[in-house]
Amino acid sequence: MARNATNKLLQKAKKSKSDEFYTQISDIESELQFYKKHFKNKVVYCNCDDPRTSNFFNYFVTNFKELGLKKLITSCYRKQENNLFSTEENEKGFYFEYVGGDFEKNKLNTFDLIPFKGDGDFRSVESIELLKQSDIVVTNPPFSLFREFVAQLVKYDKKFLIIGNINAITYKEIFKLIKENKAWLGINLGRGISGFIVPEHYELYGTEARIDSEGNRIVSPNNCLWLTNLDNLQRHKDIELTKRYYGNEAKYPKYDNYDGINVDKTQDIPLDYNGTMGVPITFLHKFNPDQFEIIKFRKGNDEKDLAIDGKCPYFRILIRNKRIQNKIFEESNKSQQVSAYMWQ
Ligand SMILES: C[S@@+](CC[C@H](N)C(=O)[O-])C[C@H]1O[C@@H](n2cnc3c(N)ncnc32)[C@H](O)[C@@H]1O
Repeated sequence: MARNATNKLLQKAKKSKSDEFYTQISDIESELQFYKKHFKNKVVYCNCDDPRTSNFFNYFVTNFKELGLKKLITSCYRKQENNLFSTEENEKGFYFEYVGGDFEKNKLNTFDLIPFKGDGDFRSVESIELLKQSDIVVTNPPFSLFREFVAQLVKYDKKFLIIGNINAITYKEIFKLIKENKAWLGINLGRGISGFIVPEHYELYGTEARIDSEGNRIVSPNNCLWLTNLDNLQRHKDIELTKRYYGNEAKYPKYDNYDGINVDKTQDIPLDYNGTMGVPITFLHKFNPDQFEIIKFRKGNDEKDLAIDGKCPYFRILIRNKRIQNKIFEESNKSQQVSAYMWQ
């Protein structure tokens, strides 16, 4: 087989493997604590979740009252282990609705679960019907279908808080949402998401894999993020800027193919530069849309990767400091007012 084709197959296998990463309750709690006010009187839909095993389901049932939820819908795609239904029925998905009250998870049985006619794919008509009834989607969707998953949420104008791979930021469609301030990063990222439970057949390898005290097999890929359109406090905090461009110009080389300077670390963004700056994608974790404006991703004027002396640094996001812009605008307004006054 040609090398390219083998690589593609390997990539595909890797992708569908991470479709089987199950989220730990501790990671859900540590992110959800920042969004509690958004859930009051809302219908939450976990549309890639087996209610018998999902920790998203667990979290919302446990916190149903505290969050003031109206309803929780959890739906499961067909190919699950320990399926309760007969072989033919295994092909089908099912869902469960919870509206509060006493609940013991181990009593969740076939009578409570409502079968779908189809497989419960989040893109199916039946699942979309449930989506339409919902306000907020919270889940860790299959990584291989991330683009489609987000596109559907946008199409139906839903609020969401979901887990994805950090690379998702570089997808054209996802970056566009971030640029347009229609989605942003959650609080936890990378090592801030401690790991995922993987099935028995998943090979554990490397130091980033372990078995927890309950016997769960955990891998820590350290390359995930939360993507959301629920507001959080973090994105209204300014990045503290301490460095200066003027006097240190050599540290901030200009791009060959764009009128802008290169900044290697978010903490090195200069406080006195009014033009366009290229920053690493991790900047998005600290991004406050009141402080900075996102201009473009990765490419220069020639639509080739941003380059310095012919070399391309890692992916860069082109940004501009809005505060400096606004200040200059206010000051020029003031001086115009003064000169208008003088001429009166
Ligand atoms: C990354 S796992 C996460 C599972 C669960 N949401 C969690 O966080 O523990 C993705 C899940 O999506 C399910 N899935 C795969 N394809 C799907 C589809 N087309 N529609 C709905 N769910 C799907 C998989 O069976 C898997 O359980």
